[in-house]
Amino acid sequence: MLKVEEQQPVEFSSALIEKFDEIVKRYPEGKQKSALLPILHEVQAVYGWVSVPAMDKVAAYLDIQDIEVYEVASFYTMYFLKPQGKYVLEVCRTGPCCLVGAEKIMGHIESKLGVKENEVTADGLFSWRGVECMAACGYGPVLQIGPEYTFYENLNEQKVDKLIEDLRKK
Ligand code: FES
Repeated sequence: MLKVEEQQPVEFSSALIEKFDEIVKRYPEGKQKSALLPILHEVQAVYGWVSVPAMDKVAAYLDIQDIEVYEVASFYTMYFLKPQGKYVLEVCRTGPCCLVGAEKIMGHIESKLGVKENEVTADGLFSWRGVECMAACGYGPVLQIGPEYTFYENLNEQKVDKLIEDLRKK
């Protein structure tokens, strides 16, 4: 993953531009804006998040306004607008999961990792955040771990500890 700091200019590789071209071809002529979401996924896969300079480059590539990219990237929570840890622990914080202990799980993750929501651990390995319903309401508390989005259900503190230790050993 390429590391970029906030506001640092980015230069997309020719391989990445080729991927953009392939994505744009999926859509009818003149509808290149429809490629915005998958293109932002590709950017995030390379850099780990989508910075403002990267969004500006995407806007220029798609020939749309910068603000159109900002609006989309800031609407969908799957796009990270700040640098994240290598592993992003996303805990469902919607009502049904809260009823079975999601807030306790988030508190446990915060104290185990020693960072607040959306902060990155000093070793760069982890960040965590609460997200909305992940459609596994009968199996809460649940979390998913990016970037592969592996899913874990019926969590308790011991399961979370094991998850984090396993990831540290990877
Ligand atoms: Fe947590 Fe739906 S409320 S998965």
